[in-house]
Amino acid sequence: MNEARVLISPSILAADFTRLGEAIALVEDAGADMIHIDVMDGHFVPNLTLGPVIVKAVRSVTSLPIDAHLMVTDPEQYASVFFDAGADYIVFHSEASSDPGALIDTIHGLGGKAGLAVNPPNPAEQLESFISGIDLALVMTVNPGFAGQSFIGDVMPKLRTVAGWKRDRGLEFLIEVDGGVGPSNAGTVVENGGEVLVAASAIFGADDPAAALREIRSAGERALV
Ligand code: DX5
Ligand code: ZN
Repeated sequence: MNEARVLISPSILAADFTRLGEAIALVEDAGADMIHIDVMDGHFVPNLTLGPVIVKAVRSVTSLPIDAHLMVTDPEQYASVFFDAGADYIVFHSEASSDPGALIDTIHGLGGKAGLAVNPPNPAEQLESFISGIDLALVMTVNPGFAGQSFIGDVMPKLRTVAGWKRDRGLEFLIEVDGGVGPSNAGTVVENGGEVLVAASAIFGADDPAAALREIRSAGERALV
């Protein structure tokens, strides 16, 4: 069984893209565990953001695991592109895929780790039939599309459900929480079962991003005991 821990995955969506390398080095030095890259296609979500060239650029400056959060229609078209660009975790939304089970197998076949995301209005059950085959479950606490939105606390019961499946079934997948996460709610997220805390604005929008990252981690860790 995994030991309880708090992992921090800064989302570069709120970073200064004219100084992306410095932003990555800063969070890496501050103890980031992963780097979260938000891929939006203007179709599955109403915004266009980052593509494989950014993943490749980030890969070239860090050895941290990269989690590529694909908010795209037809993720099967792009999984190998993002894996080849250097992503370790390929995370997709099952409602965007025609055959999520097959895509999980494809990602594993490439040598990657597969993640499934669930949006705030959707039930935990959307993940359930795939839960023993995934490496990461991403519980969204905003409706995906933009950084800087408010955390939706109503998602906490769903997070507890997913954490309960992990515990009761002895599974190893990581539980990631994404959207509006910061020092004020990191404790709540961890209390309810969150293990990987994604944050864009709360880190890169802070005057001192390294201090903000450490604050999120300590707030989460205080909730572990
Ligand atoms: C939302 C993205 C998030 C977002 C988080 O659509 O999936 O990863 O960048 O941004 P904050 O932390 O600012 O809510
Ligand atoms: Zn994300």
